[in-house]
Amino acid sequence: MPDKRRHTILAVDDEEGILKSLRRLLADLDAEVLTATSGKKALDMLKSRDISLIISDQRMPEMTGVEFLQRSREVSPETIRILLTGYADINATVDAINSGAIKYYFNKPWDDDILLSRIRESLDLYNVMAENKRLNMLISRQNEKLKDMNKTLEQRVEKQTNVIRNQHQQLVKSFMETIKAFSAIVELRSKDVGSHSHRVASTAARMIKFLDLGEKEYQDVVVAAFLHDIGKIGIPDKIMDKVENTYTSSDLDVVRKHTILGQSCVSGISDFEDVGLIIRHHHENFDGTGYPDGLRDTGIPLGARVVRIADEFDKQSFAKGYPTMKALSKATANLVLHSGTLFDPDLVKKFIELDIAKQFLYKEESETFLVSPIHLKEGMVVAADIDTRSGMFVLPRGAKLSQGMINRIIKINAFDSIPNGIEIHRTIQKQKVANART
Ligand SMILES: [Fe+2]
Ligand SMILES: [Fe+2]
Repeated sequence: MPDKRRHTILAVDDEEGILKSLRRLLADLDAEVLTATSGKKALDMLKSRDISLIISDQRMPEMTGVEFLQRSREVSPETIRILLTGYADINATVDAINSGAIKYYFNKPWDDDILLSRIRESLDLYNVMAENKRLNMLISRQNEKLKDMNKTLEQRVEKQTNVIRNQHQQLVKSFMETIKAFSAIVELRSKDVGSHSHRVASTAARMIKFLDLGEKEYQDVVVAAFLHDIGKIGIPDKIMDKVENTYTSSDLDVVRKHTILGQSCVSGISDFEDVGLIIRHHHENFDGTGYPDGLRDTGIPLGARVVRIADEFDKQSFAKGYPTMKALSKATANLVLHSGTLFDPDLVKKFIELDIAKQFLYKEESETFLVSPIHLKEGMVVAADIDTRSGMFVLPRGAKLSQGMINRIIKINAFDSIPNGIEIHRTIQKQKVANART
């Protein structure tokens, strides 16, 4: 709605008589009327007052009306300007109209009614323009406010996202720690060397890293690899204590149930259906001769085919303690030999391509080598801090082993195993051997 505020009109003429006439004419309007007798005085007034409309005479000494109105436009562009002129000034008037310096002009003597009606229209127009300006300013202020709010909102969302992301990472970490704790419980019952499940999970993770799996699918395979033998908890001690090749056929029947028992162990955990299926099928053979369901080919869940390979490779390579290069090569050759019968040929290919066996290898030229606790010798120098699977710190890097230290390591390893063995400096060992020979 147009602004209903009181207007101020400025009348400019060097003749007092004209100014008086204009005052009289404008008396009917609800407006304050100011007068000035020169353009210069009028410009000064314009600087300090908010003027809605100017009526100026053209013929004035020093500064003409057109000149004054043009300059007034720079000081107060919104003010509506009317020129009172004579016929002789028509050219200057036309120029002023064309340049936008004036809105109307009236030849003297003017018609009071027409002039008054134009002035009323002009004041209404001024109101509309002022209201437009006010609304535009309001919109631009609100836009700025909105921009600020958006920025604040974005910052809040980002902050909240970071909090959620951190909480999620913390949850995943706690979740994986819980899974590792479960797998450690399983291994208390097994005769496997070191952390079988841990190694199977690490091998499986390496194998699937380059497959196009979603985050959940990837995690399911790793979790299932950690827990693949969880069903062994339900196998009686008298069978678990036996060496695998001394199992009777009834022992085998019981042992084979660890796949189904394992699946039922995790069946109560929400969102663990796929993990349960991988556990159930981790002994299926690619040609359909495995157990418990004799699934074949890609009918076996991908994760189960991966765990099948990682599990068999680990069992073979660690069968006689920490693997030698020969044992690793033999275990790899076994995968190739049974590729397409026991194992998924594409995954065996991937296993070879990625040179996964290498993770367990120490190279002859390497500065260090891995030793199992029971094969430690006095005088060996530890090349990396020794920690147990649960994270207990045992000995620092650089420690020279005494028999007492070795006994302690063996004792700790019996209840909280040291994953993958103890890293020993080879050069120092070689030096010692060389010194002993001379
Ligand atoms: Fe198994
Ligand atoms: Fe296993």
